[in-house]
Amino acid sequence: MRLALHALTEELRRLKASGVKRVAVDEPTLASLRRAVREAGSGLAKPSVAAVPPEPALAPAPRAPSLAAVRAVTTAISVPVAATLPPAPVVSLPAGDKPTRWAALQSLVFNDSTCRANVRSGKKVVLGVGSLDARIMFVGEAPGAEEEIQGEPFVGPAGQLLTRMIQGMGLQRADVYIGNIMNWRPQLPVSGAGEQVGNRPPTEEEMRYCLPYLRAQIEIVKPALLVALGTTAAQGLLGFGAFKTLGEIRGKWRDFEGRPLMVTYHPSYILRNQSNRSKRMIWEDLLQVMAQAELPISERQRGYFLDR
Ligand code: URA
Repeated sequence: MRLALHALTEELRRLKASGVKRVAVDEPTLASLRRAVREAGSGLAKPSVAAVPPEPALAPAPRAPSLAAVRAVTTAISVPVAATLPPAPVVSLPAGDKPTRWAALQSLVFNDSTCRANVRSGKKVVLGVGSLDARIMFVGEAPGAEEEIQGEPFVGPAGQLLTRMIQGMGLQRADVYIGNIMNWRPQLPVSGAGEQVGNRPPTEEEMRYCLPYLRAQIEIVKPALLVALGTTAAQGLLGFGAFKTLGEIRGKWRDFEGRPLMVTYHPSYILRNQSNRSKRMIWEDLLQVMAQAELPISERQRGYFLDR
């Protein structure tokens, strides 16, 4: 329960950082939230954007909340969260070339009844996009509002920043592959207008369910290296409990089943924290990625975001 409330609080912080000043919550939802906070006995009795926890980059990596915790709070506030998830799918891909195998995977994912049950009416299940011959695969967390409308990862504000980062590396979006741990947007209460406001991190159960689909994309594309964007992606690829803080593992090469894996901050961290220092930290990680991928690096690229 406390973790689920933490997830909500975290999202309020994200929204505040992206310029949102007000969030509409109707009275019954507010009453349910108060009840949930009381029952959680969490000490978050007055959730406020100002009282949110410190930047995750500096704090212990939050464990994904359990599905039971999210269900408890979301039941209290009448949000649809799938009943206990079935075991993770076993993905069996046909032989053939990459487009054939990817099309088979796409059909599996889009017809997966659990994925479909977790997507609200009119919204889309999301699979990765990009070049099937990409040398670099970026892995994010989960679709957000824009992504579940368009059915494509990283097309909202964080995605636009990721696209600029890719361009800064001298590449186009179509040159790389972009996937997510999750194939659906983790659900939260809808506003009066029937739309979900904000995002929450996926639960461990949700991540475990979708991971075989990410693994299948890696198996098809066979990228030379992977870039995990943020805590959820790093947890999904390195395992829960593999690290305490993102700061402790970012910027160093890891291994994901024989492939080099670079962990860096999620672009939304930069959207919240526009300092040159944080931009430089991500950029230094990407310079390492460029070197590993044997991309040319100009002096100008080397100097991006250095305070002079
Ligand atoms: N954030 C992510 O991690 N993935 C997306 O697709 C969009 C935003």
